[in-house]
Amino acid sequence: RATWVSNVQTPSQKVEKIAVLGAGTMGAGIAQAAAFSGFDVVLKDINDELVAGGRARIEKLMRSAAKKGVLSAPAAEERLARIQYTTSIDDLTDADLVIEAIVEKLNVKQDVFSELDKQLSPRAVLASNTSALSIEQIGSATKHPERVAGLHFFNPVYKMPLVEVVRSPATGDAAIRVLVDVVRQLGKVPLVVGEGPGFLVNRVLFPYMDEAVRMVSEGAEVTAIDRAAKKFGMPMGPLELLDVVGLDVARHVADTIGSLSPEPSPTPEFLQRLIDQGHLGKKSGRGFYLWKDGKRQQPV
Ligand code: 3HC
Repeated sequence: RATWVSNVQTPSQKVEKIAVLGAGTMGAGIAQAAAFSGFDVVLKDINDELVAGGRARIEKLMRSAAKKGVLSAPAAEERLARIQYTTSIDDLTDADLVIEAIVEKLNVKQDVFSELDKQLSPRAVLASNTSALSIEQIGSATKHPERVAGLHFFNPVYKMPLVEVVRSPATGDAAIRVLVDVVRQLGKVPLVVGEGPGFLVNRVLFPYMDEAVRMVSEGAEVTAIDRAAKKFGMPMGPLELLDVVGLDVARHVADTIGSLSPEPSPTPEFLQRLIDQGHLGKKSGRGFYLWKDGKRQQPV
């Protein structure tokens, strides 16, 4: 059900302004990548505090890209000036594409998509960055499900080259063309996939991370597993990666994919114990490892 995009025809309708909903790790990462690639961006969240948090993340990412020599300091400031920050849906109405990266709750996403459907031009494409929810069900809250699709980025957005373009049975060709074009303009590789638990990447990635959690639950050392995975050639070990993804996000994906597996997995329960204590990984300062100023410390 996955297609590399050589068979998707372009060009599509032009996208100049991208609206991103949700100023968390993924929303801010997507907004930064879009501004970095020259799009005008508007980033929306529900209150000023969340918007300010997203803005701080984006400024840090852009300035660190400049420090690493990816772009010049003036270019980084020019890209930052392309981003408008808001709490009002009125500022999104002229966007050609909306990428939603809010909380992973179907009813909340449906409300948001229904509102966007009413407020935005029918030409605008509405995409969700969901890792696990059904695009068809999200689209069913709108009058134009043909313009609703998934656009699944990986964390960290600036670095990960693949983006899954998720087509529900209701998604139209025009929306897919727009998304494939935008992903290419972001300098990334689009992979068109049908919807189904975990799409393609998480369906491959989660069994690997699942086995690591199973070994920890059996008493193995976090660092022994991660060190071995790195020696094998992975950029980071599976447990550090879980911390980076966020244990709450991982739990949500694991639940969806778990429905495919005949073997019961200890992962959801194990993650839930940590989540209940407020240990969500890198973003809360503690998961499998302790984290300080975004840097991994010793394992817990
Ligand atoms: N904008 C643009 N480019 C930037 C940048 C920015 N803000 N910041 C850094 N860069 C560039 C750097 O110049 C560097 O370029 P190069 O590769 O050409 O040299 C590159 O990006 C990497 O920069 P870093 O130094 O930050 O990266 P590291 O080499 O230290 O690697 C890592 C860190 C990218 C986190 C790496 O360990 C990694 O790839 N880990 C695995 C990540 C992964 O698997 N993610 C998937 C998670 S699953 C998911 O998200 C799905 C969900 O549904 C659950």
